[in-house]
Amino acid sequence: MSTFSTPYAIAVVGAASGIGQAAAALMARRGAKIICLDRNGQGARATADEILATGGEASAYPIDITDRISNSAVWDSVIRETGQLHAVVNCAGITGQTNLKAHQVDPDDFDVVYKINMLGALLVSQAVLPHMLSKNYGRILHLASIAGKEGNAGMTAYSATKAGLIGMVKSMGKDYAETGITINSLAPAVIRTPMVAAMPDAQVTYMTDKIPMKRCGELDEAAEMISWIVSPACSFTTGFTFDLSGGRATY
Ligand SMILES: NC(=O)c1ccc[n+]([C@@H]2O[C@H](COP(=O)([O-])OP(=O)(O)OC[C@H]3O[C@@H](n4cnc5c(N)ncnc54)[C@H](O)[C@@H]3O)[C@@H](O)[C@H]2O)c1
Repeated sequence: MSTFSTPYAIAVVGAASGIGQAAAALMARRGAKIICLDRNGQGARATADEILATGGEASAYPIDITDRISNSAVWDSVIRETGQLHAVVNCAGITGQTNLKAHQVDPDDFDVVYKINMLGALLVSQAVLPHMLSKNYGRILHLASIAGKEGNAGMTAYSATKAGLIGMVKSMGKDYAETGITINSLAPAVIRTPMVAAMPDAQVTYMTDKIPMKRCGELDEAAEMISWIVSPACSFTTGFTFDLSGGRATY
């Protein structure tokens, strides 16, 4: 179990919903100050308010990680507010259209998925890295997916962009390996969240049937791993994609 000595500031992008919301709540209970960010600004505020109501420390900002100018301005405010931003958990992601064969994929939809799942992850990293370099410390964790490692039929855009994210993390981890900053990703199989609820049943059944444990992952199971990966205790792993797949991942 990871606990955070105060002050330990963690920004969670995608904190309004699903995995980001669960990770924010758990890490707050473990003593971290949580900065909740989401393009759903009200949802981010609600997560922060829940943390505050239970005695934790939190603040909230609306953000669209694909918007280069406002993204960078928001991170400047987050860094100013915290003094030192120790970690970033980036849970912003979308599936785009699913249950489609590759020849049916709309290139415009592919572009939207790319901008959030890959370019957004780059922009978030770029916004915080100079600050983390100045402190010789940082933890960056991006949410990838088992789809990026194995490829899910019916999910060309999602699988491709999550594979790209995994490659980006491999490269960035090495770039900063001597600096005290680690950059990793986490690859869940199916965790029941609003993102999964919005997918066609056939697509969800296809993904769930592939899990050897024959069940979906729980939000707490994701939050526990996230909490440890961005803690000071996880100090000798970088450029790596952690598994959270009930046995589906074989490498
Ligand atoms: N739930 C799963 O089974 C599963 C499996 C594998 C990977 N993942 C990944 O985990 C991450 C979290 O997924 P989730 O299931 O919690 O999804 P979710 O839809 O419940 O939450 C995602 C959050 O990201 C926010 N977001 C989307 N685009 C954004 C943007 N441009 N800027 C800022 N915020 C934005 C949304 O508003 C939402 O609150 C995603 O990257 C997803 O691809 C989820």
